[in-house]
Amino acid sequence: MQRNDRVNFGSKLGAILAAAGSAVGLGNIWRFPYEAGNHGGAAFILVYLACVFVMGMPIMIAEFTVGRHSKASTGKAFSVLAPGTQWKWIGFLGVLAGLLILGYYSVVAGWTLEYIVAALTGSFVDKTSADFVAIFQNFSQDPFRPLVWLLAFLLFTHFIVVKGVKDGIEKSSKVMMPMLFILIVVLACCSMSLPNAGKGLEFLLKPDFSKVNADVFLGAMGQAFFSLSLGMGCLSTYASYFGPDAKLGKTALSVGVIDTMVAIMAGLIIFPAAFSVGIQPDAGPSLIFITLPNVFQQAFGGVPFLATVFSLMFYVLLALAALTSTISLHEVVTAYLNEQFKLRRSRAAMLVTGFCLITGVLSSLSLGVWDDKILGLGFFDLLDFVTAKIMLPLSGLLVCLFVGWYLKRSLSYEELTNGGLQKASYFPLYMFILKYVAPVAIVLIFANELGLL
Ligand code: TRP
Repeated sequence: MQRNDRVNFGSKLGAILAAAGSAVGLGNIWRFPYEAGNHGGAAFILVYLACVFVMGMPIMIAEFTVGRHSKASTGKAFSVLAPGTQWKWIGFLGVLAGLLILGYYSVVAGWTLEYIVAALTGSFVDKTSADFVAIFQNFSQDPFRPLVWLLAFLLFTHFIVVKGVKDGIEKSSKVMMPMLFILIVVLACCSMSLPNAGKGLEFLLKPDFSKVNADVFLGAMGQAFFSLSLGMGCLSTYASYFGPDAKLGKTALSVGVIDTMVAIMAGLIIFPAAFSVGIQPDAGPSLIFITLPNVFQQAFGGVPFLATVFSLMFYVLLALAALTSTISLHEVVTAYLNEQFKLRRSRAAMLVTGFCLITGVLSSLSLGVWDDKILGLGFFDLLDFVTAKIMLPLSGLLVCLFVGWYLKRSLSYEELTNGGLQKASYFPLYMFILKYVAPVAIVLIFANELGLL
């Protein structure tokens, strides 16, 4: 594809909402509140904020630089910027990571659809805690039902991606992101007005500095990476659709602020409701699919209608957040096939959807009937481990080294200032972080996650 044939996002707001859509996902609503709760509440949040703004922002700007300057999707961007070198492998690593993440992420995303239907049909009314455990286990281990929802979710993603950058991704983000904000504000207000909600707020917002140790720091950094969609070129692919007047620093800041706000608001939904009925929020998929439906039922127990509406809104919120993220994962691979092999967008998207359907089906079955282990892990856990713990930090590190050490400093400066039209007084600090601070920090997360520290 020629440089000038590429479609761009139609507006700066559209670009910000699309990138924020990629960032806001299951990571914010499900993983963040639990991590915060377990690591000292507000103390974790402060460390997390530092990780997002000190480390996350520079890496995001670096990804933006690669994408916008090369005007190519991640899979090709590195060969465009560093022709004939081995840097091209960062791009391939990103494409592969996107493909693998999309498979298992869509399985969990599909579960949200089952729970929307369950909430709508009143299946949660009058159930006990034990019932909620059984409902989730029977469903997630069923060899058939989750696959239907997986297919549905992948098809939603597919059709939006096929429609293209402007009419698909941008338009859908402009509709879904405001819906998501409204839902999250309404839910947080309802949750905080429950009796005894104050205890939940205290749990989340009262800093307990005695819990801050290296583990908290590394946990916060890993969470910041996943939540901001860093390390596999989602944001760099989106940045290749930014117009010449998009301000990279400002866009990164907006995405970081939106993503962090959504994460904190999710905590404001979950903890006040859980404490209000005296249930200890716990970890893993069981938090949003077992504990929370139970919490919602009891919190509004006197009025089943309210519980139903609240649960329904919550799972719609999750589904929307997951969908804007799956779109970004899908786009990375589709855009690559489209540009590199000149496949039509619809054909490229079909290949991606087909492949992810296969890995998704295998992931889903590995939670139930398929009990073979690969390297000691089920297929679902294996994909999660290989992508989130190995591929993302590795390619994040390589992006830092590429932009910090390989790319010409003047090229970065030009991108950040839009050719000198904008001020970027943070530039020296940005380069310093990219060259030294971020690589060291990533090596630490990496070592920690692999159990080497
Ligand atoms: N950031 C998303 C979330 O919070 C998930 C996601 C989308 C992602 N694209 C990514 C994570 C790329 C890592 C890399 O759920």
